[in-house]
Amino acid sequence: MCGRSSPGCRRCICNAPNRAWRRWRAAGNDTKSGGPVTEIQLNKVKKAYGDVEVIHGIDLHVQSGQFVVFVGPSGCGKSTLLRIIAGLEPVTGGDVVIDGDVVNAVPASERGLAMVFQSYALYPHMTVYKNMAFGLENSNMPRAEIENRVHEAAKLLQIDPYLQRRPKALSGGQRQRVAIGRAIVRDPKAFLFDEPLSNLDAELRVTMRKELAALHAKLGGTMIYVTHDQVEAMTLANTIVVLNAGRVEQAGSPLELYNTPKNTFVAGFIGSPRMNLMEAVAQAGEDGGVVLLAGSQRISLPPIEGVEPGDGVTFGIRPEHMDIVDEGDADISAPVDLTEQLGGETYLFCTPEGLPQITVHQLGQFPVGRGEMVHLRFRREVLHVFDAEGKVIVNGIDADGGAAG
Ligand SMILES: Nc1ncnc2c1ncn2[C@@H]1O[C@H](COP(=O)(O)OP(=O)(O)OP(=O)(O)O)[C@@H](O)[C@H]1O
Ligand SMILES: [Mg+2]
Repeated sequence: MCGRSSPGCRRCICNAPNRAWRRWRAAGNDTKSGGPVTEIQLNKVKKAYGDVEVIHGIDLHVQSGQFVVFVGPSGCGKSTLLRIIAGLEPVTGGDVVIDGDVVNAVPASERGLAMVFQSYALYPHMTVYKNMAFGLENSNMPRAEIENRVHEAAKLLQIDPYLQRRPKALSGGQRQRVAIGRAIVRDPKAFLFDEPLSNLDAELRVTMRKELAALHAKLGGTMIYVTHDQVEAMTLANTIVVLNAGRVEQAGSPLELYNTPKNTFVAGFIGSPRMNLMEAVAQAGEDGGVVLLAGSQRISLPPIEGVEPGDGVTFGIRPEHMDIVDEGDADISAPVDLTEQLGGETYLFCTPEGLPQITVHQLGQFPVGRGEMVHLRFRREVLHVFDAEGKVIVNGIDADGGAAG
């Protein structure tokens, strides 16, 4: 197993379109006209290296045509999981199921999937055309069919003017598109991307991100994509899977994760800048309500089901869900440590007494000087409360207490 995207490799996922797939295509089927069902399922998948288990029994169902994004901190197992699906790593427990068949024993080259890596490893001495065609030539595909596929993919990715160039005469974004093109010409059942844009500069990433979204819309294939980039995850995914230390913390649509995180890990991970999380102790308030005592701040809230006086909780509020108000209406007051004026929006970093620094986002320009006090009110309907273990109690509180929405 070479584990890299070298186009000439016969042993793994890098080239030869799989036989079953070729038969399926030969029977007149076509991915672009509705496509095959490519469902990928992980059932209690485990992976250990020696004695160390790094994937601890993951269940996941990727439906046909979905764009699924894996996110999580470095070392949490994103690449390992992708490589397990690709067939580049054997599982040590559980099953990988593609279109209803357990494929644990099926080699990468027979799974019909294409993987695009961060380091795209193009052959420097070959033209773009040859780089894209090479894997297909190795599989003895008729020349006319190869030409057809390469030209079609090149047009789709807008690299057709560069087909006779060598990789060194291309920009980073163009090279990355060649690597994606090399995957497209294989007509795979699903695409697996491992941080394909992380070598590109910020501007190119934005362009390529839009191109990938358009590509998914055009090809309609199943895609699984690993990224560290919040915006890529939020904008590309139908489903985001948040991984942490070899386990799935939560899987759901981007807005589901943003609006209703199940625990403090997901709350802190999804969203940029991250949600402000503050520890507090609950006390009895007026009219059956709750007062959260956080540092030297007292936040009066309606009753919250599941929160009793004396409970230790964590409450979370996103930077964009706080309003700057008069002192009398405020939940919390804090001196400003730093202001970042971006023109259209402003970030204030401030440290309430006895609490860690919090981030406040305000639309427009907000000329507040260092050391000046700001008075902040939290929007109740988007205030999150978690228990002492970090599990959610409520995502949003309505005016009468209880869960909003
Ligand atoms: N061949 C290997 N032998 C031993 N341990 C490994 C091997 N490959 C990966 N690991 C370990 O498995 C864990 C998951 O690694 P993986 O590469 O999947 O993380 P990742 O989420 O992709 O991280 P990153 O965001 O840094 O790419 C890590 O702790 C890593 O050290
Ligand atoms: Mg990785």
